[in-house]
Amino acid sequence: MSKVKNISLSAAGEKELSWARENMPILSGIRERFEKEKPLKGVRISVALHLEKKTGILLETLQAGGAEIAASSCNPLTTDDSVAAALSKKMEIFAWSGQSKEEYYGCLNAVLEQKPQIVIDDGCDLINLLHGKRQELLPQIIGACEETTTGVIRLKAMQSAGKLKFPVMSVNDAYSKHLFDNRYGTGQSTLDAIMRITNKLIAGKTAVVLGYGWCGRGIASRLRGMGASVIVCEIGSRLGESGIGTEDGACKPASAQQKRESGCHRALEALYDGFRVMGIDEAASLGDIFITATGNKNAIDVSHIEKMKNGAIVCNAGHFNNEIDIEGITKKGARKEVLKENLECFTLKNGKCIYLLSEGRLVNLARPSGQGHPIEIMDGSFAVQALSAEYLVKNKGKLKAGVISVPCGIDDEVARLALFSQGIILPKPTKEQIEYSTAWEHGT
Ligand code: NAD
Ligand code: ADE
Repeated sequence: MSKVKNISLSAAGEKELSWARENMPILSGIRERFEKEKPLKGVRISVALHLEKKTGILLETLQAGGAEIAASSCNPLTTDDSVAAALSKKMEIFAWSGQSKEEYYGCLNAVLEQKPQIVIDDGCDLINLLHGKRQELLPQIIGACEETTTGVIRLKAMQSAGKLKFPVMSVNDAYSKHLFDNRYGTGQSTLDAIMRITNKLIAGKTAVVLGYGWCGRGIASRLRGMGASVIVCEIGSRLGESGIGTEDGACKPASAQQKRESGCHRALEALYDGFRVMGIDEAASLGDIFITATGNKNAIDVSHIEKMKNGAIVCNAGHFNNEIDIEGITKKGARKEVLKENLECFTLKNGKCIYLLSEGRLVNLARPSGQGHPIEIMDGSFAVQALSAEYLVKNKGKLKAGVISVPCGIDDEVARLALFSQGIILPKPTKEQIEYSTAWEHGT
C-alpha cells in the first residue's frame, strides 16, 4: 500500500510525466521493446532514486518490461509530490518531500517489503540496508544497479572489505552516464536551482567551486558561461582506495581500472582550462557563491564559513549534506532563520549572515526549486539503468558478487541512440580502418 503526501496531486503529476515521456526517446524505444519481449517478467525491483518525473519514466519502462516495482526516494527532500501521487496509481510508491531521517529510512524499509530480486539505488543507502538490518533478504537478490559516484565509492569500499554480497552494476562509471549526467546535467541544473532560489545575477560574481571532478567541471564551465569569475578548489592528495589519509600520499590503486587522476591533476586541469585555482582556506574570503561537488565530508568547514563575506551564498551539489559543516556552525552558536523555501540565513557569532540553500542537500534536486537534470540527460542515464537491470536478469547466477562495469555494448548503444535522437548518424569505420587500428606494422 503506497504512502505519498497528497494523492489529489496525481492529475498534475500525470501531466509532468507526459512531458518527460514525450522528451525521452531513448527510454521510449527501450519501453517498446520491453513491452514486446517482457525481459523483466515477474521480477521484483526495489528502487531508491530521486522520485521525480524522469525517474517516473524509468519506472514505467521497467514495469512495461514486466517488473513489479516498489519505489522510494534516495533523499529526504527530492520527491516531486505530484509525480509520486501519479505513480502511486500504477505501482507501490513510498515517498514524499520533506522527510525526517526516520521517515526516510521507513520508506527504504517499506520498498524492501516486496522482497526484491533487483535493487536500483542512488547513493547506496538501500544496498547498505540490505547488508545490515535487512540481511534476511539477501538470498533472493540477483543484483543491483548504482547511479552515483558516492554510491560507487561506498560499494568499492564494501568490496575491498569483503562485505559486498551480490553483483552491482556501476552505472555511474558508464561513459554514457558520467560524461554527460555528472558534467552537463549537474552544470545546468545546479545553476538553474541557485537562480530560482536566489533570483540573483550570476554575472560579475566570484563563484568558488569545490571539486573539479565530473560535476565540478560542469558547474565551473556553466558559471563561466554566465559571466562569473570562477575559482576552483581541489584537494592536494589522492582519495579513496588509492591512499586516503596517507602522509606520503602513496598511490595504491587496487587495480589499473581504479587508478585515476589525483586532486593535483584535476587542479592543474582546472588551471589550464583557464580558472583560478587555490585552496579553500584562501578562497573562503573571496567568494560570493560557493558550490561543493566533492563527495567528501566538511569540504567547507567552520573556519572557512567564518572567513566568508557577509551575504555569501553556500550550497552543495554532492550526494550527501555533509559537505558543508552546518552542524559545526550551529554548535558554535550560529542562529538559523528560514527566509523562504530552500533559503536560510545563518547569523554567525561574528555578525555575518551566510545564506545556505536547500539545507545543504543536493541543491539541483531538493524540491521545490530543484528539478533535477535536464530531461535529455536523464534519458541517457536511465537508459543505462534499464539496460543494466535487463543485463542482470539475463545473467542471473552467472555474475560474481562485486562492482561490475556496464558492458561496452550497453554503453556504446546508449551513446549511439542519444546521437540518433538528435538526428545524428555517424559513419562506421571501413574494413581498412578497422585493420589499421589494431596493426603495428605500418609506419610513415
Ligand atoms: P569525482 O570523484 O569525479 O570528483 C570529486 C572531486 O572532488 C575530485 O576531483 C576530488 O579530488 C575532489 N575533492 C575531494 N575532496 C575535496 C575537498 N575536501 N576539497 C576540494 N576538492 C575535493 O566525483 P563527481 O562525479 O564529480 O561527483 C561528486 C559528487 O556529486 C558525488 O557525491 C556524487 O555522488 C555527486 N553527484 C551529484 C549529482 C547531482 O545531481 N547533484 C550528479 C552526479 C553526481
Ligand atoms: N533525476 C533523477 N535522478 C537524478 C539524478 N541522480 N541526478 C539528477 N537528476 C536526477
